[in-house]
Amino acid sequence: MKYAAIATWKMSYEGMKICADMLERGENGADAAIAAVSNVEDDPNFHSVGYGGRPDCRGRVFLDGGFMDGNTLHFGSVGSIEGFRSPVRIARSLAKGDANNFLAGQGAEQYARENGFEERDNLIPEMTELYEKEKDRLKALSAYDGHDTVCFCTKDCTDSLYAAVSTSGLFMKKPGRLGDSPVPGAGFYADSKTGCAAATGMGEEIMKGALSFTAVYLMKTGLSAQDAAEKALTDLQNELIERNGYAQAMSLVCLDKEGNYGVSTNVPFTFTYASEKDSPALYEAVNTGGRTMITKIKGEL
Ligand code: GLY
Repeated sequence: MKYAAIATWKMSYEGMKICADMLERGENGADAAIAAVSNVEDDPNFHSVGYGGRPDCRGRVFLDGGFMDGNTLHFGSVGSIEGFRSPVRIARSLAKGDANNFLAGQGAEQYARENGFEERDNLIPEMTELYEKEKDRLKALSAYDGHDTVCFCTKDCTDSLYAAVSTSGLFMKKPGRLGDSPVPGAGFYADSKTGCAAATGMGEEIMKGALSFTAVYLMKTGLSAQDAAEKALTDLQNELIERNGYAQAMSLVCLDKEGNYGVSTNVPFTFTYASEKDSPALYEAVNTGGRTMITKIKGEL
């Protein structure tokens, strides 16, 4: 395939259209992934990413973002940043050089400010109301109270692969908590020689299996994108159940270097996909005994 892109959740649909248009015009897959993720970061209707994201246990919105260039293997990440419009754009700017690629907290905010990244208060009144209603609950709520991380994996017409992700993380998370999303190998991974992958769900589970790297590694050993996605998630789930008695929600999307996609999940999951052969469409995935059953929902919402 000349180009292809896959992304997590229904919230990626408008971004997927932007991404597919850019890839169709021959634009760079990194630019396409970033434009698509930014589209979700800017939309207050999606309460797990960017503007309108869910608050932490203090009622403040802290964001994580990650980006990986599959040609150079350079990655950039920011964790737990407050007051900036686009964590994924900041993350991308860090994907160069041999050091200081992953910045968190005040250091990441200082970097973003010094480098002119747009500032924005991402807390909206609806999320303040939600916080006030839920704040006395003892336990953090699930990552799946609504949606979770937006992830885009792209392959462009130069056969370059990229992964880009953004999230506000777990609702009611503790100060400083980082999930899988900004962690290379866990929340995202890209290698243009093999494939790219990105994860959504309960970050603490996904990190236990370095889920995105594992899927790409399995492709390297010769598995198809779909078989790699299923094996990576099923193996991790089985290990977690054997050791802890349960496995929390996880979903994974990936592309091989030809642009074929793979998807796996242990909860009902929606994703979007486009290539020069397939116009942007929304799909639903469910796990049936370790295999993923995929249904196309709509080509135009
Ligand atoms: N997967 C997003 C998080 O756990 O923060």
